Amino acid sequence: MKKLTKQQKEEIIKKIQEDKPISDEYRFLIPFETEREYELVYAGKERKEDILADTLSVPFQPIKKFGEVKEDEWHNMLIFGDNLQALKHLLKLKEQGKLRNPDGRNGVKLIYIDPPFATEQEFRGAKEQKAYQDKIAGAEFLEFLRKRLIFLKELLTEDGSIFVHLDWRKGHHIKLLLDEIFGEEKLRNEIIWTYTGPSAPGQQQFSRKHEVIFWHTKSDNWIFNVDDIRVPYHETTAGKFESEGTGFGGKEADLSKGKIPEDWWYFPIVSRVRNEILGYPTQKPERLLERIIKASSNEGDIVLDAFAGSGTTGAVAEKLGRKWIMIDSSKLAIYTMQKRMLNLKAEIGNKGKALKPKPFVLYNAGLYLDSGFLEKMDEVDYRKFVLELFGAEPADNRVKGVQMHGILNNRPVMVFSQKDFLTHEFIDDLHKTLGDGLKDEMYIIAPMSVVRFNEDYIDKGKIRYHVLKVPYSIIQKILEKDFIRGLQPLSKANINQTIESVGFDFIYPPNVECEYYQGTEGGLFDQLVIKIKKFEPVQISKKQVEFKDPKKEALSMVMIDKDYDGNVFDMDHYFFNDEIVKNDFKVVFPKEKVGEKLMIIYLDVLGNEKAEVKNIKDFKKK
Ligand SMILES: C[S@@+](CC[C@H](N)C(=O)[O-])C[C@H]1O[C@@H](n2cnc3c(N)ncnc32)[C@H](O)[C@@H]1O
Repeated sequence: MKKLTKQQKEEIIKKIQEDKPISDEYRFLIPFETEREYELVYAGKERKEDILADTLSVPFQPIKKFGEVKEDEWHNMLIFGDNLQALKHLLKLKEQGKLRNPDGRNGVKLIYIDPPFATEQEFRGAKEQKAYQDKIAGAEFLEFLRKRLIFLKELLTEDGSIFVHLDWRKGHHIKLLLDEIFGEEKLRNEIIWTYTGPSAPGQQQFSRKHEVIFWHTKSDNWIFNVDDIRVPYHETTAGKFESEGTGFGGKEADLSKGKIPEDWWYFPIVSRVRNEILGYPTQKPERLLERIIKASSNEGDIVLDAFAGSGTTGAVAEKLGRKWIMIDSSKLAIYTMQKRMLNLKAEIGNKGKALKPKPFVLYNAGLYLDSGFLEKMDEVDYRKFVLELFGAEPADNRVKGVQMHGILNNRPVMVFSQKDFLTHEFIDDLHKTLGDGLKDEMYIIAPMSVVRFNEDYIDKGKIRYHVLKVPYSIIQKILEKDFIRGLQPLSKANINQTIESVGFDFIYPPNVECEYYQGTEGGLFDQLVIKIKKFEPVQISKKQVEFKDPKKEALSMVMIDKDYDGNVFDMDHYFFNDEIVKNDFKVVFPKEKVGEKLMIIYLDVLGNEKAEVKNIKDFKKK
């Protein structure tokens, strides 16, 4: 490394003192203490330590339980929300020893992710803008993914593996980042997934028919279940072995066992595997996940997919007897996965007998059903949820015989019942009992609706009783952080977009007014029609998104279950904004197979949904 001259040193110090950027010529002259010989440098790259510390952990709000979920037993998890914040919460669960595998190790054994590539924004726009857009979208995307990879590494068990699915656009960048985060020597394979398919007539390049999967392990001790993934030898090789021996230094290869597959895999894409097609644009084939899950995890192990899409990872994990956690920030993905998990077939390729999934819970992480919903939660779930909401650690303990539920800033926290009123008299009585049992302060968490006074804290002698009121409008004041909602897509083409949201908020159902009728739309017989007359998102937060024409801009999609069983939303049709706007705000679907009741979900771009149940009789003949 070249030494800096005295003058150069002074110049750098001056710039720093004036808060000005240091010129580029010094970039490689300033010595940095670094763990690596080289690394990928780009705008906005944060320190790993800051990422781990500054990310907000968002609690999981149970929305629906499928099967017999028992409080102290593992259940699989389907999580709606931004994965970064959800991963931080999962890390907390790991720290609490709640991610146990059958061998006793704590954490996730296997991670598969198939992240989006932000292509829409990147390749749109005028020529002059393109270079700039590429750079920003490029660097932003890298940091978006790097942040998540940092958490994913922390979540892995010591013998865990991560498979990152990418393509020719971003693969080379991300490989460098994976090497930085996991270590170059931890790269076990660069797997090429190949497939065939039509090409555009007259195209001026070869058809792009492969994707890349990088497999890194957390340590030098990893799982590779070689006998579970063997494939038959090619017949010419088998014949040669029989006549000439195997050539493995005198070692006999057992032909009947088959060989270890190469690092390039051929599996047809989903559109060619009829039984698997769910209509989710980026769905991956089950056979691909089968090989990964069989090779790198054992039965009963925890498998995680943080960009789960249509839920291929969870579906295959379930079939192979693994536990699963799936996260996605798109509502369409969540409803697609919910339906998929409830309609599983036992064999890979979605064939064979029906398979009832093990108990799983649908959670919201970051965007919660409104505070009225809290009242419907059972005491245990409610307590866990609100403690986490305020960043308190759950802890059962007693102070002078009074039950406390958590710890915040080293002080006790009581979660007040949702059914009583929190009054001055209660605080008086509490103080009489606790008084000298407390050091200086304590916290009481209570729903705003039960608090009978306006103060945020009450002083009694030397003790301060803080009252933390739910919902979020109050929490926001404490955190002084704004919630940035990740936007839901407006068209099918945008499903694979990167979604990023920060903080948390409650769901406010949009105002929707519709006309419902039966008709012969587009010359077809027996169609049901929902004509959207009014659509307006409800925004309570300080930072509101402005819509010039809300009906046109704020509606993301409409999803329909046309034979609603009164319990689970089992999606049959979905319609994106672009299609609805083009069709003069009409949602049209066939009457065939319609039941007595229909459930219709209207989703706004901010992620709020309004669900309504309609009777078939509400659709009048026109
Ligand atoms: C390529 S798809 C995954 C497809 C999946 N492998 C399958 O087989 O169906 C990527 C998914 O990442 C989701 N996504 C994008 N940003 C996200 C975020 N910040 N948190 C969670 N999911 C996100 C998208 O909604 C999309 O469903």
